[in-house]
Amino acid sequence: MKAIISPSLLAADFLSLGKEIKKAEKSGADMLHCDVMDGVYVPNISFGFDIISKIHRITKLPLDVHMMTCCPEKYLDVLKKSGAYIVTVHSDYSDPETVTETLKNIREMGMKPSVSLKPKCQAEDVLRYLDYSDMVLVMTVEPGFGGQSFMTDMLPKIRKIREYITEKNLDCDIEVDGGIGPKTIESCAEAGANVFVVGTASFGAEDMKEAVKLMRNKANEVYKK
Ligand code: DX5
Ligand code: ZN
Repeated sequence: MKAIISPSLLAADFLSLGKEIKKAEKSGADMLHCDVMDGVYVPNISFGFDIISKIHRITKLPLDVHMMTCCPEKYLDVLKKSGAYIVTVHSDYSDPETVTETLKNIREMGMKPSVSLKPKCQAEDVLRYLDYSDMVLVMTVEPGFGGQSFMTDMLPKIRKIREYITEKNLDCDIEVDGGIGPKTIESCAEAGANVFVVGTASFGAEDMKEAVKLMRNKANEVYKK
């Protein structure tokens, strides 16, 4: 496995967004994590598709879009037009049939489907979706805000999902999101995560390039063991 680093724009300086994106590119980041929040599914509002489309115009970094909204299926067309590469929806946003349908549609539209679990959701809640997903996003904080502390008790869940993926020989990444930084990345890599959303610990670092390099090395060292 190889670590994939996805800096979260939520921690960027929005007054200088263009510059921040260039900074992320120069840091060696692999993707850009875009958190879309509607103030209903989570108690916060972030940015929408117009911004995502403008971001897409100025960068070649793949956009890793995390939908923390009600009815994400309503926005698939606009996500496609805006240049989304990965689209993550939450497992509990609707009933299993609707979630499955949305994941299938994301794939049919040529984007990468991904399913996310809030801290209260169990590994078993997403296993049924793995045939229709290229990635599982395990939230390691309550979704809605950057800068929160990593929840160590999410690690067994990551392990369980990785075991299932290995056992079934599925091609599915595991992304972790929330409180990821130099102190927490190794435990996530050990548990089986290979995609790391990093907000505060990347854009908020004194030297983003150094921070990204350090975290990538830490995770990759774990995989070598
Ligand atoms: C939280 C978002 C995260 C957030 C992570 O709901 O999904 O992507 O930006 O921020 P940090 O890395 O600061 O915890
Ligand atoms: Zn996120």
